[in-house]
Amino acid sequence: MCGIVGYVGKNAAQDFLISGLKRLEYRGYDSAGIVTLSENGDATLLRAKGKIANLEDKLSNNKRNDKIGIGHTRWATHGEPSEANAHPHQAGKIFLVHNGIIENYKELKEHLTEHEFKSQTDTEVLAALVNSFYKDGKYPLVNAVVQALKLTKGTYGIAVVTTDNPNEIVVARSGSPLVIGVGHGETMLASDAAALVGHTKQAIYLNDGEVAVITRDNVVIKTLNAEPVSAKVEEIETNLAAIQKGGYEHFLLKEIMEQPESLAETLRGRINEKEGTVRLGGPGLSQEQLRKVKHLVIVGCGTAYHAGLMAGYYIEQFTPEITVESVIASEYRYKNAYIPKDSVALIVSQSGETADTLACLREIKKQGIPTIGIVNAIGSTIAREVDGGTYVHVGPEISVASTKAFTSQVVAMVMFGLTIAQAKGARSGILKPYIDELIKLPAAIRETLDEASEAVRKIAQKYASLEHAIYLGRDTAYPAAMEGALKLKEISYVDANAYAFGELKHGPLALVDERFFEVALLPKGELFDKAISNLQEVLARGGQVIAITNVRDFEMPVRDVIVIKDTIKHFAPLLMNLVMQLIAYYVTVAKGYDVDQPRNLAKSVTVE
Ligand code: G6P
Repeated sequence: MCGIVGYVGKNAAQDFLISGLKRLEYRGYDSAGIVTLSENGDATLLRAKGKIANLEDKLSNNKRNDKIGIGHTRWATHGEPSEANAHPHQAGKIFLVHNGIIENYKELKEHLTEHEFKSQTDTEVLAALVNSFYKDGKYPLVNAVVQALKLTKGTYGIAVVTTDNPNEIVVARSGSPLVIGVGHGETMLASDAAALVGHTKQAIYLNDGEVAVITRDNVVIKTLNAEPVSAKVEEIETNLAAIQKGGYEHFLLKEIMEQPESLAETLRGRINEKEGTVRLGGPGLSQEQLRKVKHLVIVGCGTAYHAGLMAGYYIEQFTPEITVESVIASEYRYKNAYIPKDSVALIVSQSGETADTLACLREIKKQGIPTIGIVNAIGSTIAREVDGGTYVHVGPEISVASTKAFTSQVVAMVMFGLTIAQAKGARSGILKPYIDELIKLPAAIRETLDEASEAVRKIAQKYASLEHAIYLGRDTAYPAAMEGALKLKEISYVDANAYAFGELKHGPLALVDERFFEVALLPKGELFDKAISNLQEVLARGGQVIAITNVRDFEMPVRDVIVIKDTIKHFAPLLMNLVMQLIAYYVTVAKGYDVDQPRNLAKSVTVE
């Protein structure tokens, strides 16, 4: 979603701001803007609707050597995407950028009668509010910001400058991430460490309720109640290669293709091959605590939710006496759900910043239930607020549609389930086949990707003109089908929905006609024959089916079939998911859409 960057130092701020905003493009946005201040306090404000390239066009006639500035990519919430609604917003001598939502902006606006509003945004209300306390420089900017924030309800990450003092940026956060990059003779600011990579490795992550004054050589942090905070400088682990396309045409394809390596990172050091056991250090639960767990709640949004659903199927398969409930965070947070005391909650999030997931985490913590993060972004808010956690370690995921994170989230949760099963004394004969397969999975992923890519590319072209798709699966292949359908709809805008095979007769079968194609997941196993019977019903009604199976001599009269190796049994749906990721990718390429930044969507959804 929205992105923030800031710079104060020895170099031209415009250069950092533009390159930083480009690094944040992947998060999704529909307008962008920057403001820089000269030594005399002259402001150069540039804003444009659409891509950063449009902002760069404006920049070509407005090059400045100013050494301080702030910038923003906006994902429209209040008011349409337009230049007037783009940040930075100005009020008097103040310029402000903001991520998040000011919930009481209407109420605040009523009192700000002296300001002439030029946009429909909640952010301009905040700028005007800060300005009303700033009183033309009578009070320090930081004091005005604090006063304003004390009246504000909602979420924010903000950066503010004033033309009176072209040496400092005031920043604050509550619910929207901000990271300060400490350089030599320069200090940078971003809502995502990706913007800082290549500039500095030293970062200070601001916490909720903190406000900082940033100058080129100094960072002073306090709480909103003026208590001093000693800044903890942490190392940024991401390197430049991880956030570049590395020869691929799109980040999505790169991220699909790097799954053998990213999954190997998830598994690294966590499986003892000799003993056939799993060991996770991060969750921090004792054997005694693990033994007592009877119930798991798995919370996530989008792809993370699907990962939770899929992991839940596995965990219930091999863990004695346990129930798993996988839930959508935006629903769960308002459900007032009772969670049994012998539960553990898994909080699943690639970004570690998703607003609904974070809200669930806080609610669940209030009930005294141990919370375990299944998170990718190191140092993210969820990672810092959970009681313990297992990082999935897949590296930056840039494409809006999540791929490599999904595979690793499922595996990380399966590993957590295995640690519970071990503690509960599950027979090793039950657990070993799963553990053996986990070890083999990265190589099987490599094989599947290598063998399926070209075939999928050709098949996808045939279906690219259709606007509707039905994905079908049973058991662990059902959440995989849900994820496959989500991938397709997210990036190719095909109206794709998933159903459990057994549900076909209860409604979806009525849809089957020449406008649809169907993707059928058919892994070997106990339910294979039942799935085939369901598939017959689709074929009998003229369904145009792409079957994905690991049955070598598959003989159904489907339109297309992708056969994957059968070396992996339990986790075959994870391999089938790779095929579906490739289907979504190649259909989108054939349609000519923006693969990495689909319309209307954001990578990290930091507002409700
Ligand atoms: C957004 C992204 C999805 C992602 C979901 C949850 O909708 O576009 O790809 O699955 O948020 O994100 P999280 O960072 O919490 O995993």
